[in-house]
Amino acid sequence: MQFVLNGKKTNIPAHPMKRLLDVLREDCGLTGTKEGCGEGECGACTVLLDGQAVNACLVPFGQVRGRSVKTIEGLRGRHPLQDAFVTEGGAQCGMCTPGMIMAAAALPRNATLDDVRVGLAGNLCRCTGYMGIYRAVQKAARTASAGSASRSKDGKHAGGRRKATRTKARAAKPSRRARS
Ligand code: FES
Ligand code: FES
Repeated sequence: MQFVLNGKKTNIPAHPMKRLLDVLREDCGLTGTKEGCGEGECGACTVLLDGQAVNACLVPFGQVRGRSVKTIEGLRGRHPLQDAFVTEGGAQCGMCTPGMIMAAAALPRNATLDDVRVGLAGNLCRCTGYMGIYRAVQKAARTASAGSASRSKDGKHAGGRRKATRTKARAAKPSRRARS
């Protein structure tokens, strides 16, 4: 089945009902995407599908035909979010981190703290207490904005804003866990 994986046209002969999570880890060798709950509750498996954050454990591979999938490997270790998670203490054991970063990557650059909280509400972390994660996301947004402003001054395109579509979907979904 053909799709675009981290910017490259890819053809993987996996069963259409195989979970995207398993295709990525087993057939594509991209183990950065983690499995936590396996049932859409923890967000550890979050990837971007056509720019929207989805839980890869809930997506049958057949649904990605002809579409674009981005995983944590697609950020190539150079995304401002990845630096910010390190410097702001947004990662400890790291199990939730790829999913957190991919969910954060789907947020608009001008997201408020409340937007960040809602946008990451489907991503659970057992280690950090979340504040380091929220700081990291906001720091990365400031870094990206500064970069865009400087590119704009140079007369170059500042880049488009991502839609936070998953924010709405997650806000509508009752959570099993209350957060402080
Ligand atoms: Fe997919 Fe938990 S492993 S949401
Ligand atoms: Fe350990 Fe989040 S850093 S679960």
